[in-house]
Amino acid sequence: MHTPASDRYDSMVYNRCGHSGLKLPTLSLGLWHNFGDTARYDNMKAICLTAFDHGIVSFDLANNYGPEPGAAERNFGRILREELGAHRHELLISTKAGYGMWPGPYGDFGSRKYLLTSLDQSLQRMGLDYVDIFYHHRMDPDTPLEETMGALDQAVKSGKALYAGLSNYDGPTMAKAAAILTDLHCPFVINQNRYSIFDRTIEKNGLKDTAVRLGKGIIAFSPLAQGLLTDRYLHGIPEDSRMRTDGRFLKDNALTPERLAQITALNDLAARRGESLATMALKWILKDGAVTSVLVGASRPEQVLDDLKVLQSPDFTEEELAIIDRNS
Ligand SMILES: NC(=O)c1ccc[n+]([C@@H]2O[C@H](COP(=O)([O-])OP(=O)(O)OC[C@H]3O[C@@H](n4cnc5c(N)ncnc54)[C@H](OP(=O)(O)O)[C@@H]3O)[C@@H](O)[C@H]2O)c1
Repeated sequence: MHTPASDRYDSMVYNRCGHSGLKLPTLSLGLWHNFGDTARYDNMKAICLTAFDHGIVSFDLANNYGPEPGAAERNFGRILREELGAHRHELLISTKAGYGMWPGPYGDFGSRKYLLTSLDQSLQRMGLDYVDIFYHHRMDPDTPLEETMGALDQAVKSGKALYAGLSNYDGPTMAKAAAILTDLHCPFVINQNRYSIFDRTIEKNGLKDTAVRLGKGIIAFSPLAQGLLTDRYLHGIPEDSRMRTDGRFLKDNALTPERLAQITALNDLAARRGESLATMALKWILKDGAVTSVLVGASRPEQVLDDLKVLQSPDFTEEELAIIDRNS
C-alpha cells in the first residue's frame, strides 16, 4: 500500500462545487487515455500516486474508458486495491454511462436499464461499494429526461453514488434536468463539459451561464485540447504523443498550419508570463471562477507536476486575454 506524502494537502486549492457542500481540487485527473490494457501499469500507477501526493484527490473514469472498454476502471481498481484503497474516504471517484458500452439495445444512451446495470458493472470492475459522482455521459434525444434523471436518482438513493452529474449537456437541457432532479431531491451538483481556449462551446450553448445561475459546478474536460495546448506539437508530431499512439480522438488533421501558428503564438505568450503553455491554458479556464475543477489527462507523472503549476500562475491582463482570443 502506498504511503502518501504527508504534505499532500498543503498547496492544493479546493473549490466549492456550485452551491453544494462538495469541494473539488483545482485539478482533477482523468483516466480516459493511458489507463487501458495497452498502457503500462507501472506508469498509470505512478501518474495516480503523483496526483494523490499533491492533493489531486479527484479521479474521473467512465464505463467505456480503455481500450478495451472497462479496462481503465479495472486498472484503477487494481491501483486502489494495491496502493490507495486505505485512503478511499479521501478520494472523489467518478464514473459515467451514456456512450456505447455493450451490444444490443441496453448498452448505450440513457435508459434506466442501461445506466443502473452499467453502474453495477463499474463498481464491480473498480472493487467499490459506491462512486462519489455518477454521470449521465451525454444527452439522449430519445429517452424521456424523467427516465434518465430517475435512474441517476435511483443510483444515489440506493447508496451506489453520492452525487449525480451530467456530462455534455447544453444549458437548456441541463436546466430541465436540474428541475427534475430538484423535485426528486437528488443531489445533482456538477456538469462535465469540454472547455478550453480552443473550444468555447459551453459559452455559446448556455451551459456555463446556466450552471452559474443554478449554483451547479463545472468540471472542464480536455482543457489542453488533448495536448494541442502544450509544447508537444510545436516541432512536429512526437512518436509518443496521443496523436501518434492513439489517433482515434486526436487526428493529425487537427494540426493545420493555422492551428500550429496559434499554438506557437500562445506558447510565446506563456513564455513571456514565465510558464508553460499547458499551465497558461489551465489558468485560462479558471480565470472567472465559474469552473470548479480542470480535468486533465496525462501520459506521464511529470506532466501532472507541470500542470500543478497552475496553482502559482498569475492572473491575466486584459492585453494577454486579447492575445489569447486572437489565437483561438
Ligand atoms: N465527459 C466526456 O465526454 C469526456 C470526454 C473526454 C475527456 N473526458 C475526461 O477528461 C479527462 C481529460 O481529457 P484529456 O486527456 O483529453 O485532457 P487534456 O488535459 O486536454 O489532454 C491530456 C494530454 O495532454 C498532454 N499533456 C498533459 N499535460 C501536459 C504537460 N504539462 N505538458 C505537455 N503535454 C501535456 C498529454 O498528451 P500526450 O498523451 O500526447 O503526452 C496528455 O495525455 C479524460 O481523462 C476524461 O476523464 C471526459
